[in-house]
Amino acid sequence: MELFDVYPLYDITPVKGDGCYVFDENGKKYLDLYGGHAVISVGHAHPEYVKAIQDQVAKLGFYSNSIKNPLQQELADKLEKISGIKDYSLFLCSSGAEANENALKVASFQTGKDRVIYFENAFHGRTSGVVAITDNESIKAPFNNFHKVTKLAFNDTESLKMEIEKGNVAAVIFEVIQGVGGLDEAEADFYKRAAELCKENKVMLITDEVQSGYGRTGDFFAFQKHGIRPDIITMAKGMGNGFPTGGILIDNHIPPKYGMLGTTFGGNHLACAAGISVLNIIKEENLMENAAIVSEFVMAEASKISEIKKIKGRGLMIGLEFDFEIAALRKELLFEHQIFTGASSNKKLLRILPPLNIKKEHFEIFFETLKKVLKNQVTRSS
Ligand SMILES: Cc1ncc(COP(=O)(O)O)c(C=O)c1O
Repeated sequence: MELFDVYPLYDITPVKGDGCYVFDENGKKYLDLYGGHAVISVGHAHPEYVKAIQDQVAKLGFYSNSIKNPLQQELADKLEKISGIKDYSLFLCSSGAEANENALKVASFQTGKDRVIYFENAFHGRTSGVVAITDNESIKAPFNNFHKVTKLAFNDTESLKMEIEKGNVAAVIFEVIQGVGGLDEAEADFYKRAAELCKENKVMLITDEVQSGYGRTGDFFAFQKHGIRPDIITMAKGMGNGFPTGGILIDNHIPPKYGMLGTTFGGNHLACAAGISVLNIIKEENLMENAAIVSEFVMAEASKISEIKKIKGRGLMIGLEFDFEIAALRKELLFEHQIFTGASSNKKLLRILPPLNIKKEHFEIFFETLKKVLKNQVTRSS
């Protein structure tokens, strides 16, 4: 049977991971500055994480959400403590799209309304409701086109006010730092004003922290820098370090009711074991602090490279914008120098999303290599 061919693939087969490195079937070692789309938070094959999953699967891998599972409460308690946010409740699911779908549903239940405001360059996932609020027409099927959604420019508080005041809005959703869209962050005032407008008009504010959450920016959530309080926060990628885990945090002013949300796999025993060990490791190894410290080094080094025109992002969610399209550069880094990096919808932007336990030394290797590649490019083109 053929695989349904929806992914353009690199001709590389990783079979093993260790910290910030992956190894292919021939034992070739690759420096992972991309974490498989920002998923690897505590590093590949972290021994404590591996043991937690092994121990749990040997005891009980899965039972349904119709029984008590104290691991879910342990995860919620640890999440509250490490994130520093209070008076939210946790609903667990298995992916980023599912987290966002559930957030939209909660917002619509709570407000009794059905229109959602999203922003240019947003990426919220590929399932029905969330692809409708993703700024990429090429991945929307005709079936996805019947949701009531309104796209606005990021930063445009005037239009946001006008649309919200029309009165049929259930939710405003944004990524505080856009991931797939190219690492843009609106001005601080935009987030404050958006939060105020939502509050005044009883519209639910959803921050999509699927990519930016879990310590990646140096704060636990990217919105925390702006001092706002979202009604709903969505999470996924770093949450399970590769074990499919997602979740939403719902402000306690929104009451739950039986049947409002549900899932077979979300919050299962194995997912919780993975999620708990990720939080333990983030705390024990001070990975949020590490993200902030290593980030400073990266920003400083990047600013010395003249071909880099803009440095975007925060913590270990970094975009390096060049004055040329980076597809060839990325390929050369990967195939000639064994360094994984990422792309975005901005074709000139190299995306850096490494495991949060990466060290300065790894980036020294990266910058040395990058300088060499850039120099060779100049020699080749002259
Ligand atoms: C900000 C953001 N939201 C949602 C998603 C969708 O997550 P998933 O692919 O787990 O459904 C992504 C995936 O890249 C994302 O970056």
